[in-house]
Amino acid sequence: MNNIKSVKFNRKIGKKASLDFLNKEIASKAREFHKSFNQYKETPLTTLGNLADEIGVSNIFVKDESHRFNLNAFKVLGCSYAIGNYMADKIGVHIDELSYEKMISDDVKAKTGDITFVTATDGNHGRGVAWTANKLNQKSVVYMPKGSAQNRLDNIKAEGSEATITEMNYDEAVGYANEIAEKNDWVLIQDTAWEGYNEIPTWIMQGYTTMALETYEQLGDTKPTHIFIQAGVGSLAASIQGFFASVYGEHRPITTIVEPNKADCIYKTAKKNDGEIHFVTGDMDTIMAGLACGEPNPIAWNVLKDYSDNFISTPDYLSAKGVRVLANPLKDDKKIISGESGSIGIGLLVEIMQKDELKWLKDELKLDKNSKVLFFNTEGDTDQENYKKILWDGEYSRIS
Ligand SMILES: Cc1ncc(COP(=O)(O)O)c(C=O)c1O
Repeated sequence: MNNIKSVKFNRKIGKKASLDFLNKEIASKAREFHKSFNQYKETPLTTLGNLADEIGVSNIFVKDESHRFNLNAFKVLGCSYAIGNYMADKIGVHIDELSYEKMISDDVKAKTGDITFVTATDGNHGRGVAWTANKLNQKSVVYMPKGSAQNRLDNIKAEGSEATITEMNYDEAVGYANEIAEKNDWVLIQDTAWEGYNEIPTWIMQGYTTMALETYEQLGDTKPTHIFIQAGVGSLAASIQGFFASVYGEHRPITTIVEPNKADCIYKTAKKNDGEIHFVTGDMDTIMAGLACGEPNPIAWNVLKDYSDNFISTPDYLSAKGVRVLANPLKDDKKIISGESGSIGIGLLVEIMQKDELKWLKDELKLDKNSKVLFFNTEGDTDQENYKKILWDGEYSRIS
């Protein structure tokens, strides 16, 4: 059975969550900060016209974050902006006055003294934290969940970080990083929020809006009819959703939040619709490692519940299908290297458009020949072993 589950969230009538913290003005500030980095270059927005023809939609756009700062994923946008804000507060200046050059200067280091940044990560966020700490000549400590890929660990260690793969799942590793931070007076840079821990995750979400603003400008006069955005804790999805809902208002694209079956905490929260946030526990052994999170970020859920249209829980084989589709372009479409957490939206769209038994979902999402669909390829081949297994050996090609 193909285990694709979808729910529309029946929201209560009333005041919607404010999008002031994710609007165009905030995104412009975040982008100005990122632009001051030597490594900054807008990532490409690739159009896959032949794939669109093949599956029967008008056009497909993929924002390709595999090119971000040579780090193969979008994540550095969030943690660099959070660390920038933290440093600005610490030395008593406004973030607008803190360029990359200034932030990494000896002068700033002399003012802040030694800092240890700590986090828990499936890989991409931790690499971003380690990279930023390294540039600041500061220390980083990174905890990874059980089963994390060696390749991802090596990349974090290469930034001088003290990184380890633990025996915990992602959410347990987050709790552990928090405890250690409190005990040692380290600075926790975590990409999710909880009671009493909101400021840093909010800055992280604001950092991601750089990607949304670039995409909006790259689209020019074209307005997408649909956005598919994948979620772990939901911070990324809420940043994208919040930004596009704030620029397009009531005429925003139909937005679908996509998660793996094995870690579908946002889908479950939407389905139960009882005013509570619902968790997934256990190993969450999905190939979409970046999405293997069981506890939604409450700040993100607050945005998603008011502005997203559908929540979909998907099996792993669709992520592998997305990897293969993007790696094997049709005619003169461009090849995109997409890792398992980056490819799920495309894998899902192709399946919906091509399988008769999914016509119900195609209708529910109002997908047809006029649809212009936007995706975010949030990572490249960050686990190179698995990437090869998918492409060369056809692993995860069957419904599981
Ligand atoms: C490649 C990739 N895509 C998407 C996500 C999901 O982001 P979030 O946890 O904010 O939902 C992550 C999170 O680590 C990721 O690494």
